[in-house]
Amino acid sequence: MFLRQMETEDLDIMLDMAHAEGWSSDRFEFELYLKQNPDGCFTCITDEKVVGGIMTFTYPNSGWIGNLVVDKKYRLKGFGKALFRRGLRQLSSVPTIFLCASPMAVRLYSEFGFKKVSNVNRWERKGVTLEIPENNNELEYVLAVDGTCWREDRSKMLGQVFKNRSLLTDKGAWLGFGRVDDHWTIGPWEAYDKDLALGLLRQSMVESNERHILVDVPAQNTSAWDILTAMGFEVVGTTVLMCRGILPDIVFNNIYGFASMGSKG
Ligand SMILES: CC(C)(COP(=O)(O)OP(=O)(O)OC[C@H]1O[C@@H](n2cnc3c(N)ncnc32)[C@H](O)[C@@H]1OP(=O)(O)O)[C@@H](O)C(=O)NCCC(=O)NCCS
Repeated sequence: MFLRQMETEDLDIMLDMAHAEGWSSDRFEFELYLKQNPDGCFTCITDEKVVGGIMTFTYPNSGWIGNLVVDKKYRLKGFGKALFRRGLRQLSSVPTIFLCASPMAVRLYSEFGFKKVSNVNRWERKGVTLEIPENNNELEYVLAVDGTCWREDRSKMLGQVFKNRSLLTDKGAWLGFGRVDDHWTIGPWEAYDKDLALGLLRQSMVESNERHILVDVPAQNTSAWDILTAMGFEVVGTTVLMCRGILPDIVFNNIYGFASMGSKG
């Protein structure tokens, strides 16, 4: 087995492995990671094929590890750990590293000094779709709100994410959403106030039998819990946001939805 830098041609196999896990991932997201940080994405090769991978992403003051996956047939052989070590080495110069851990990987990450920050609930609402408004191009405003929530300049990622998402804004709140394969995902979704957050969700949701919506929400945002329950969403899974290093004072109460399904905050 050896590790090498990820190549664009590896993305189909990475996506197959992600979909086998039921992840809400698409080519746009994987290409975004790879293009933004080609030196920070790695694949694991054995039997002359790609059997696993990992992606890292950096902001000015923090880094994220995402999409660590190993083909089911090749698990428990040390490949996952080797990929994880490589990802960590790549991020050795940033003061803070985040990741969203699946329950099966929490122990592995704890071994490397990661500590739990929060549960992240995946909420689903069946029988609805999201209506696409005109993009109102308020990216600067959105980046300002986002910075106050995450205490980080995430423009490098959000600027790209919004090439593929619709955006609704209000004074003190905004909600992004986009299609991923056969469903919609909400996120990022941030608001200074519960009513503003609810207002944006109400404006964008439309009944439809064919579609469903997913959104990943930090569990300590109890306002989000109230809103989503009232709007007919149910929790369908939970991951664990973990951090190693200096934990910034993230304002979880204002974060109603992560930017992507768990993989980069
Ligand atoms: C998590 C995953 C990447 C681990 O890959 P792997 O190649 O099997 O991992 P390794 O063989 O390197 O094992 C690393 C450690 O994790 C432990 N581990 C692996 N799978 C485990 C499981 N299902 N339950 C509990 N522990 C597990 C191993 O026992 C090992 O511990 P040890 O070093 O103390 O012996 C792989 O199971 C996977 O792709 N899972 C689905 C996707 C996923 O959940 N990714 C993590 C997203 S955060």
